[in-house]
Amino acid sequence: MTRPHAITEDAIATLVDRFYARVRADPLLGPVFARAIGDDWTAHLGTMRDFWSSVLLKSGRYGGNPLAAHGRLSGVTPELFDRWLALFGATLAELFAPATAADIRSRAERIAGSLKLAMFYSPDDIERRRAAR
Ligand code: HEM
Repeated sequence: MTRPHAITEDAIATLVDRFYARVRADPLLGPVFARAIGDDWTAHLGTMRDFWSSVLLKSGRYGGNPLAAHGRLSGVTPELFDRWLALFGATLAELFAPATAADIRSRAERIAGSLKLAMFYSPDDIERRRAAR
């Protein structure tokens, strides 16, 4: 079967399931998620389907606060976001035609960029860097 261009609810459900199966098995990301989520992933997978359905299909099903959720995590580094994006990109490439995969990936990159900014770069850091120049 050729990989589809269309983004459907079914495709999003498969994307979420496969991506987080990779995440759970990953030596770098797995432990961060295991600490926050434990063994029962039902709620998280449902939240993530709603999130991507809202982002990609404008379904409006997601009403959470990703910044607050990530701010509570321990053991996250800026580099871990590269790993997240690599696994997400590999999953997209399996499921979607190249142009669709690239489009979804660029949206994920933008969201990752704003999460990183919020988590790692405070106005104080900017002040400190300016003072050190
Ligand atoms: C190093 C990168 C990342 C790590 C380690 C990470 C980890 C996590 C964890 C552990 C949770 C569950 C928090 C909880 O239930 O208490 C979570 C939630 C979530 N993550 Fe990430 N995440 C990462 C990157 C991203 C990116 C790039 C996106 C979006 C493109 C994203 C979107 C979300 C959303 C929407 C939630 C649900 C928040 C809610 O509860 O409403 N995450 N993440």
